[in-house]
Amino acid sequence: MLSTQSFKKIKPLIFLAIITPLFFWTFQFVNGSLGVNPIEKLMDNLGEMALRLIVLTLFISSLSDFKQFRFLVEARRMVGLFAFFYVTCHFLTYIILDHFLDITFIIKDILKRPFITFGFISFLLLIPLVLTSPKIMLKKLGFKIWKRIHYLIYPAAIFSSLHFYMLVRANKIEPAIYIFIILLLLLYRLIYKFILPRRVR
Ligand code: HEM
Repeated sequence: MLSTQSFKKIKPLIFLAIITPLFFWTFQFVNGSLGVNPIEKLMDNLGEMALRLIVLTLFISSLSDFKQFRFLVEARRMVGLFAFFYVTCHFLTYIILDHFLDITFIIKDILKRPFITFGFISFLLLIPLVLTSPKIMLKKLGFKIWKRIHYLIYPAAIFSSLHFYMLVRANKIEPAIYIFIILLLLLYRLIYKFILPRRVR
């Protein structure tokens, strides 16, 4: 297993791997090679990346409960912040490129279309996590409260996977897989917190 120190050395590579798709899609968008509906495609790519990173953050959280994978904690904050970064880009694409900052329309759309409402709720749920992500906030709030706030990632993940599930009309298998994985990780978290005796960890 990797030590925390050796893992810290590969963190820049993980950073690069996560940021690269954004440059690639931006280049394709500017270049006109993002298909017939480039705004929709860009939004879909950003949204799906955000969802994958949310799920990855949950995976890291679960795995790092175990001694052998504790080094993964080093990457959790970065991956989580990137998830929010991609969601923000997704949201900004919707606000600026898709709806030209027509705030009245956007508010109506968020209230009217349930799948957008779910995406927006998910976005809102992630904000407290980002605000409390600096290490200083952990000290200020204390571990118990900080941890409680960070459990918000579970409802955020559920709302965003439902957002995906509701908007897809034809093949719902992919969003259903996300929902399944998220529920599995949530179940694991509940078992770990309430049932698993401490000595097994
Ligand atoms: C955590 C928050 C969010 C996540 C993880 C997320 C994720 C996704 C995903 C996975 C898709 C489908 C991608 C695909 O079809 O391959 C999508 C599409 C979409 N999302 Fe989000 N989303 C979030 C928040 C939002 C918000 C806040 C809005 C707007 C208020 C929004 C608006 C949309 C729209 C309009 C589409 C459909 C794009 C299209 O195909 O026309 N999403 N999102």
